[in-house]
This record gives sequence, structure tokens and C-alpha cells, in this order.
Amino acid sequence: MTASATGPLGGQRILLCVGGGIAAYKALELVRRLREAGAQVQVAMTAGAQQFVTPLSFQALSGHPARTTLWDSSAEQAMGHLELARWADRVVVAPATADLLARLAHGLADDLVSTLCLATEAPLAVVPAMNHRMWQHPATVANVAVLRARGAQVIGPDDGPLAEGESGPGRLREPDAIVAELASTTAVQAGPGLLQGLKVVVSAGPTYEDLDPVRYLGNRSSGKMGFAVAASAARQGAQVVLVAGPVQLETPPGVRRVDVRSAAQMREAVSAALPADIYIGAAAVADYTPRAFSPNKIKKTGTGETLAVDLVRTPDILAEVARREDAGLKLVVGFAAETDNIADYARQKLAAKRLDLIVANRVGVPGAGFESDDNAMTAYWPGGERDFPPAPKVRLADGLVELVAQRLQA
Ligand code: C5P
Repeated sequence: MTASATGPLGGQRILLCVGGGIAAYKALELVRRLREAGAQVQVAMTAGAQQFVTPLSFQALSGHPARTTLWDSSAEQAMGHLELARWADRVVVAPATADLLARLAHGLADDLVSTLCLATEAPLAVVPAMNHRMWQHPATVANVAVLRARGAQVIGPDDGPLAEGESGPGRLREPDAIVAELASTTAVQAGPGLLQGLKVVVSAGPTYEDLDPVRYLGNRSSGKMGFAVAASAARQGAQVVLVAGPVQLETPPGVRRVDVRSAAQMREAVSAALPADIYIGAAAVADYTPRAFSPNKIKKTGTGETLAVDLVRTPDILAEVARREDAGLKLVVGFAAETDNIADYARQKLAAKRLDLIVANRVGVPGAGFESDDNAMTAYWPGGERDFPPAPKVRLADGLVELVAQRLQA
């Protein structure tokens, strides 16, 4: 197995901390996958982990002796634990048991793994695996929230059959998927980022326009593209505010998130986040909202076969932002989801909304668009365009952020 410097984790030094759960055996496969993705890997194990797998197996796969205790003087001589904590570009805890999550959340340092996690300044990713009742216990939920709030990346768990013959959320995410998630948030940034020192406001997701206390008008936007763009901008050194419609996505590391529901709330949150250097409107904002919200549930009348709902236009947040002269914006970017005539409609919107850049993608085709992880898109600006062939949204987001940085210089 050869580590490739050009893989998705090319050149990264990953400290893998293995917790004591039955899923520890999958951490062996994870070492292989991390190395295939280009990372150098060193392994530290808790005492519990050593009940499930041997340090020797990790040594064979990682190419380094696996560390098992704080009190091993020969290992400490080769590389002290503080040195190991400094060596790491990122720390990945897999499997992260309920106990280990609790100890990390509380900052304990009573064994090798907890000490390493406390001593390192590298970003932390935890990959939980446990019984579903332990995962859903309020204590674990609170510990995970604490770790997230501190910027830890939480990967999984998956839903499915568990070791004890039960089923539910608690399975360790598969090694390939863990690598993909780690690669999507590349931890090491060589040199200053492309957007270093700039403030970026990104809108993402759908909006929900409430009709009555139980019903709303929404759309199928998943928010994935906007979240990926926010994550990418943060990795490039920007200060990012992400105004998110109702979506179930994790906040990218280093991003400030403001949750909203309706177009009106999104408009307000975007306005409050300005001034900024760049606005990227990736949200699928509802074009219409009910004229009046019914405080009581709208009833079937018994006689009527149809129901007419009076809708009014929402303000175009993007066009408003682009027109504002007090917002300090150097670049305003819009999105256009189209089913046909993509180039024409996109260029029309570019001009009508006075944008600097518009990103158009085709919706309504399988494997791309709103709910997909992948997409293909074309960016248009006055006098130019660039095609982005089909790729995962996280990759496209990196490409788009690079283009944004270029257009800023133009
Ligand atoms: O005109 P259309 O809705 O296709 O334009 C899409 C672009 O405009 C997206 O960038 C979207 O975020 C933005 N938009 C907005 N406010 C609206 C409607 C769309 O900011 N009310």
C-alpha cells in the first residue's frame, strides 16, 4: 500500500485515536483507507480498544508502532505524547464511544487518548459508534453538542443493524465514507487562504412559507451546495456567516450559522449579516408567500372541491443585496436552477439582478440538482463563463470559491 501525496488527504498527518467498542475492528480498515488517500497515520488506542484489536495489527497497517499508554518510557523516548499531539494535522477519533465522547466533552486527560485530544491544537473529528440508546441518551446528545460547538467534526453514525442484534443510529460510518468526509473538510491550509481576511455571507437551503400552524409551502433544496460553499470559503480563510433555511445539515467548521425559516426571516438575517465583502445567494428562496397566515388550521369546507390560496411575491433578497451601496460588497454571486435554456436564463438573471457572477445548474435530471450530492454547473459573468463538469458538490464548491477569488481580482 503506498501513500499518494496527491490523494484527497495528500500529505496530511492524521492521528487516529481508537476507542473501545466492537467497531474498533473497522478502524483497521480505516487506517488502510486513510493511507490510500495519501495520509500518514499514527495510531493511539484506549485500554478498551486493546480488548478488541491488538496494537500489532495497527502497527502493521500504519507502519508505526501503535501507542497504548502514557506510561511507556521507550515509546515516549521515540516521540513524546506532546510531540505526537503537535505532529498531527488532524485528530480522528474512531470509534468514538459514548464514554470517550463524554471524556472529550469534559476535557479529561486521564489516559493517552484523552490527553492527546486535549494537548493537540489540530482539528478534531469524532466518528461515533455505540448502542442506539446510548447515542440518543440526553447525556450523549449534550456531549456531542459541546464538541460540535467547539468546532469538532462529527462523522455519522449510520442507522442500521447494531452489534447486539438491535437496530438504530449508532453504526460506525464505513471507512470509505469517513475518508470522503474528512477530505471534504481539508484541515491543512497551505499558506494564507484565497479569501483570507474577507467576510462572506452565504444563504443556503429552502425557505418554508407557513400557511397555517401545520402547513407550509416549501421546495426541494437540500442546502448541500450552499453549505459546501460556506465550508470551502471558511477553509480559504474567510469569515463566513451562513444564513440557513430549514435543513438537517451540520454546520461546517469555523462557520457562523444563523437559522431561518421563511423568506422574510432570511432577508432580515442576510441584512443583519452585512456589511460583507462577498454575498453568495445559494438559497432557493420562495418566490411567493401566502398573503395571510391563518392562525387556525385551514379546514376542509365539505362542499368545496378546490381551495385557492392567495400568494404574494417575496422580495428578491439577492437583487436587493446587489443594489445596496452601503453593504461594502465587492462581489455578489447568485444561483440559477433551471430546467431548460440554462445559458439564456442565467445571463438574463445576471443582468437583471445586477450580479457579478451567476452559477447555473440543471434541475430535474437524476444525479444532479437539488437533493443530489453531485452536480454539474456553469458559471457566467459579464464577458466570460466556465463549465464545471459533474462532480461532488464539495469539490464544485472549492472550484467556485477559487473562481470567486479570481473574479475579485478582475
Ligand atoms: O430568479 P431566481 O429565483 O431563479 O433566482 C435565483 C437566485 O436568486 C438565487 O441566487 C436565490 O438565492 C436568489 N433569490 C433571492 N430571493 C428571492 C428569490 C431568489 O435571493 N426571493
